[in-house]
Amino acid sequence: GGITVMEDEKEIIRRTEQMVKEKLESEGSGHDWWHIVRVVHNAQHISKTETVDAWVVTMGALLHDVIDDKVVVDPDLERANLESWLENQGVSQYHIDQILAIIDTISFKHGFEALPSLEAEVVQDADRLDAIGAVGIARCFTYSGSKGSPIHDPNLFPRESMTPDQYRRGDSSAINHFYEKLLTLKDKMNTEEGYRIACERHQFMEQYLQQFFAEWDGFA
Ligand code: ADP
Ligand code: NI
Repeated sequence: GGITVMEDEKEIIRRTEQMVKEKLESEGSGHDWWHIVRVVHNAQHISKTETVDAWVVTMGALLHDVIDDKVVVDPDLERANLESWLENQGVSQYHIDQILAIIDTISFKHGFEALPSLEAEVVQDADRLDAIGAVGIARCFTYSGSKGSPIHDPNLFPRESMTPDQYRRGDSSAINHFYEKLLTLKDKMNTEEGYRIACERHQFMEQYLQQFFAEWDGFA
């Protein structure tokens, strides 16, 4: 054998899990460790239906939130630290570039820039799936509560005369966030399998909102 640096892929994933878990342990804005676990599982599921490097997808999913400006004070510094950390784990520069490209597009606000790879598309879908359906609803109310916003405010948003655009006014309530973001995610999915799952979860949210407003108005 030559002097090749062998990547022990499973071992690197194990160490990355440990590192991310420690970093996000005290995270309270909805980017906690269990969010990462769910996104990894979503991503691995979608990977089975696409021609992707499943290891890169898993690494991207594990790391997709660790340098987000909602989680860290200095994303650029954290990005540089992460790059060194991956080098120290023996990850090849080729793989580091792929992983960082995924994280960059998921974490930062890149406008309408195209995603760099199919692997990034899978991770983005996996992240979006965790924002919708039953779990997405729970995260929405948790986030909203942490900001001190109400669950719903009919005075701010008179539903009868409302168009979706009128809803897009800011973070005034958890219910508002459904119209501002959650209900729009289905049509932004990249992969076929991601879209299929998003449709199920979307339907559940529609049903949830119907029940929510029926109860809200029930005895009015
Ligand atoms: P992402 O996971 O894509 O980085 P965000 O950081 O925007 O998503 O938000 C984390 C979670 O908090 C998501 O589930 C999102 O829907 C929810 N969230 C974000 N902004 C709001 C808001 N203004 N009101 C309620 N929930 C929100
Ligand atoms: Ni996320």
